[in-house]
Amino acid sequence: MPDRLEAVQRLTSNVFGAIYSPFQPKVICDRGQGIYLFDQNGKRYMDFSGGPHVVSIGHGNKRVREAMMEQMKKVSFFFRGFWLNEPLLALADHIIKVSPENFVMCQFCNSGSEANETAIKIAHQYHVERGKPEKYIVISRWQSYHGMTLGALSASGHTIRRLKFGQLLHHWPKIGAPLCYRCPYELNYPSCNIKCARALEEIINQVGSHYVSAFIAESIGGAATACMVPVPEYYPMIREICDRHDILFIDDEVICGFGRTGKWFGIEHWGVNPDIMTSAKGMTGGYTPMATAIIDRKIGEVFTEKGASFIHGFTMEGNPVSAAASLAVLDIIEKEGLIERSARLGEYLFKRGREKLLHHPAVGDIRGKGLLMGIELVKNRKTKEPFDPSLRVANRLQQIAMEKGVMVYPTFGVDNGVRGDTFLVSPPFIITKGEIDTAFDMLNEAFTDFEKEFL
Ligand SMILES: Cc1ncc(COP(=O)(O)O)c(C=O)c1O
Repeated sequence: MPDRLEAVQRLTSNVFGAIYSPFQPKVICDRGQGIYLFDQNGKRYMDFSGGPHVVSIGHGNKRVREAMMEQMKKVSFFFRGFWLNEPLLALADHIIKVSPENFVMCQFCNSGSEANETAIKIAHQYHVERGKPEKYIVISRWQSYHGMTLGALSASGHTIRRLKFGQLLHHWPKIGAPLCYRCPYELNYPSCNIKCARALEEIINQVGSHYVSAFIAESIGGAATACMVPVPEYYPMIREICDRHDILFIDDEVICGFGRTGKWFGIEHWGVNPDIMTSAKGMTGGYTPMATAIIDRKIGEVFTEKGASFIHGFTMEGNPVSAAASLAVLDIIEKEGLIERSARLGEYLFKRGREKLLHHPAVGDIRGKGLLMGIELVKNRKTKEPFDPSLRVANRLQQIAMEKGVMVYPTFGVDNGVRGDTFLVSPPFIITKGEIDTAFDMLNEAFTDFEKEFL
């Protein structure tokens, strides 16, 4: 064991950056199986955060391992610029088959941030090819999260992640997020007349639609809004506004894509077809890095008609081993009916989550869809007053829950970007009802300890 302890020391000293958590990790993740992860001492943790939001079919799946091995036996890497890539072509076919009917092509990359960066560039080059190079502004929402790279971060309404990089970012305009629990316009649904969607048109008019390239939004919120689910009218209104102003709608499905919310893509809950969908996490279920921007027919046609290549690309994009892993994961999701399971178990997750946690005074709101749940922590449930931000209570709750053997994902800044602690739950789709109960029992205990400390 000393060598492992040494490794812990090294981890906390030599690895740059610990994903901006106020607490450094103290345990080594040694192995994973199904919905569980095990530390170096053999202690078992339920991966109730699925990664975060990555692990769909569970850890240690033999079929995925074998598919990757088979590909590795043939060839592990070749450059996409020189060779056709058979597993990648098959993967693109599969993704187009499960995407809404207007999608025809995939541009592959390696992370959610890259996928959004890529989508922003596709949108701009699409306008350039049509003789409208002045359309460059990307409108997004405050709060939102689209990634850490500079374009994706510019589009992200996430204060803590932006603050130290202000000079490097594009200061593109943002509208308020459709988060009813903390309505940015201080209105109530439905008398609000969906101000949060109408705000898009207002800002387009202010900026001038001839300057606006795209509107980007997470279909269902992730870290920044703790699984905010917009009201039914929201996306149909957004779609109509984008169409009227010749603006592309980029739908960030990095979390929701490939089944997390009980449909292949989160936006399907609204029956709306975006122009570009980005996805990453669940696409390989965590077996390898892989992401994509999925492209609408009209965009493909403009590039084809102009004979234009997309001026973009990453050396590692479309790695054949990652493509083989992703193909196997999507095949398992389809053959084992895991999307339907995610929808079905999602209902159970919310029922049990509310029964087991809502009696805690620190639980302000429970929201989300399918197997994606956000829980907002409040100091005062009646006034919705958040905790003192310096306490970073969501991170503390995550620590307590981890000690009890259950993993959740802490997030911060849901209240105007500067306050408001939340945490996310997004278990693998293979979780059972009994395991959901066990997870909430552990969380219930964690809350009791947490409230002794903070209330
Ligand atoms: C909605 C959303 N978009 C984009 C990203 C960025 O993805 P990645 O961390 O793979 O770069 C994330 C990551 O959490 C996300 O939740």
